[in-house]
Amino acid sequence: MAYETIIVEVEDHVATIKLNRPDALNALNTQLLGELNDALADADRNDKVRCIIITGSAKAFAAGADIKEMADKSFVDMFMSDFFGKEGNAIISTRKPVIAAVAGYALGGGCELAMMCDFIIAAENAKFGQPEINLGVVAGIGGSQRLTRFVGKSKAMDMNLTGRFMDAEEAERSGLVSRVVPVKSLMEEARGAAEKIAEKSMISAVAVKEAVNRSYETTLSEGLLYERRLFHALFATEDQKEGMAAFLEKRTPQFRDK
Ligand code: CAA
Repeated sequence: MAYETIIVEVEDHVATIKLNRPDALNALNTQLLGELNDALADADRNDKVRCIIITGSAKAFAAGADIKEMADKSFVDMFMSDFFGKEGNAIISTRKPVIAAVAGYALGGGCELAMMCDFIIAAENAKFGQPEINLGVVAGIGGSQRLTRFVGKSKAMDMNLTGRFMDAEEAERSGLVSRVVPVKSLMEEARGAAEKIAEKSMISAVAVKEAVNRSYETTLSEGLLYERRLFHALFATEDQKEGMAAFLEKRTPQFRDK
């Protein structure tokens, strides 16, 4: 499919979606979010793809929702179109693992987009922030909700109230990102992680996503029950037989997603 605001490449088992509005620091406008949704749905349907990476440029992952597009909207426009309602769910409903590879600015909707991914690998120059308060609004797609769950109330309040940026080192210390790497190694690191995931049984990978995400939605006892039932259910798969046999036979498993 021909896209104008993103570049999609599928290599081996990894789909890389690069946000590509350099003149606007990858600000998220309706077109970009629509194309991102379509690309994610395509990657989810494509049997060849086993992991997805979303990335931006060395200067900006995404500097937020497109302020030029939003500035003149009214409450009724925003409310009746449920602005970002559908787009905010696209990544969450993608069943294959999605990694955010973040360099430069990940602000407002950009930080929120990264947080919707399954985990974030950050370059040393990454800067995360929820500066919507400077625009006379608040975060709209998770900056007050997901960020609080990831880094705790105090830091989430600080970020959302002062609008200050968090650098990569603080983001890793706070649990927002899983790894920090030099800018030039970012894509190599993300691809390495994606290829590792691509080697696994897709059934287990999808189950991992569902189980970890469930931990944000339910009580500990319900979450533990859900996890245990998934663990039990995977004994119905050929990949469980293969994985355990391969361990016992001291060889690499050949998973077939069955
Ligand atoms: N929307 C639209 N355009 C944006 C943008 C945004 N969020 N962020 C940057 N741009 C544009 C700038 O307007 C500028 O375009 P022009 O050359 O046409 O003027 C171009 O990108 C380059 O930006 P700067 O000249 O500002 O670059 P800089 O290096 O001096 O500063 C920055 C970089 C600190 C990221 C600064 O651009 C900035 O503060 N951007 C806005 C960040 C922000 O407030 N994000 C939150 C948006 S609201 C939101 O996201 C709501 C939500 O939760 C859903």
